Amino acid sequence: MKLRRWVSIATVSLATMAALNTVPATAGKPYDPTKQTLGALGLRHGLQIGTAVDIAALNDGSNPQYLRITAAEFTSVTAENAMKWESLEPTRGKYNWGPADQLVDFAKRNKQSVRGHVLVWHNQLPAWLTTGVADGSISKQELRELLRKHITTVVSRYKGKVWQWDVVNEAVSDPWDNPPTLHYKGFWAQHLGPGYLADAFRWARAADPKALLFYNDYNIEAFGSGNPADDKTQFVYDMVRGLRAQGVPIDGVGSQGHLGTQYGNYNTFQVIEALKKFTALGVATAFTEVDVRSQLTDGVQAGDSEEINPRLQASAANFSVLMKACLAVRSCLSYTVWGFSDRHSWVPGWFDDPPEGLATIYDENYQAKLAYHEIKSDLMLAGPPYVLPRITPKPRR
Ligand code: G3I
Repeated sequence: MKLRRWVSIATVSLATMAALNTVPATAGKPYDPTKQTLGALGLRHGLQIGTAVDIAALNDGSNPQYLRITAAEFTSVTAENAMKWESLEPTRGKYNWGPADQLVDFAKRNKQSVRGHVLVWHNQLPAWLTTGVADGSISKQELRELLRKHITTVVSRYKGKVWQWDVVNEAVSDPWDNPPTLHYKGFWAQHLGPGYLADAFRWARAADPKALLFYNDYNIEAFGSGNPADDKTQFVYDMVRGLRAQGVPIDGVGSQGHLGTQYGNYNTFQVIEALKKFTALGVATAFTEVDVRSQLTDGVQAGDSEEINPRLQASAANFSVLMKACLAVRSCLSYTVWGFSDRHSWVPGWFDDPPEGLATIYDENYQAKLAYHEIKSDLMLAGPPYVLPRITPKPRR
């Protein structure tokens, strides 16, 4: 009887603490949130803080900082390239699982969850596949079957080990594409028609009943005109609503969050509104590839602090807008940065005219930048009533 009473008192106090989102001081050691990692602070809200991982950097013994920070600071990891089709099956029928397996094992050892990236995308496809389709040796029917097999093989291998899968990535055009009216773009729409989206989610679900299945895209952080002909967020919203209405097992929308300080960008409330609208469709949300790049003017490259500082400040502000919006919306399950150090960012290799960079939360020497401190303070200062624990949807059958 006594035991039962103690158990119920303990349960009530734990529930109250959880509801108030408080963290108890451990005996003799006052709790100092500034000493916590981003990951630990995220967990107070049930929010996973993740990073994309470059496996080559992880294996580079001359660079132990990379591994140390990946393991210590984050509660979720995404393979930056290792789970893409060209990496997994460079030669038809011959799989190269090594790097992807390594990441999944690394995550397990470090108690991290895995965002699987990416099952269906028009980029980084193996050459044997694209050339086979181009020269007619792979028919449309065979292509569809190859896609089914790819999804089934990959999802089955990591069944129970991947928390969220980016099932389809970047299926929608941008207003600067030709034609400018938004449409389904790229290899898969061109060869299979837009029906491939529903197929892909169904095949992924058949292979893993428990993983959360995401659609992932960029430039969907906020709504624009509301016209799906030129507002990509609206187009994606209509698409997800349509897929849900057809009973397609889509559980989430990933907003990549590749921003640049040269653009106007958004305020926190615009981003909250977008996350809430997607949530109302019954799906989870996440920021999946956050970075905020800047143009590297001659002054920046020469080390002129008057040119560098405003960029670092603007970058930090944008990282923070996405973090605050994510915290404010309970369906936002994870906040993943697309690489954490300027030493390993995709940005300088991609944008060279004019050159861009400074996109991540640590500099090239693994020193935390203003952006790191700002998102950390967002995580630290958040709590009820505006920030409540996450709500995870049940994977849709
Ligand atoms: O693996 C080859 C290597 O063998 C070769 O020596 C080297 C020479 O250039 O290239 C290596 O491949 C590069 C690959 O990354 C792996 O490092 C490719 O050139 C390079 O284009 C590729 O870039 C990746 C890019 O996707 C390709 O589309 C970036 O690392 C990766 O960060 C980026 O990630 C995407 C997300 O998947 C989807 N959303 C946008 C995001 C940024 O573009």
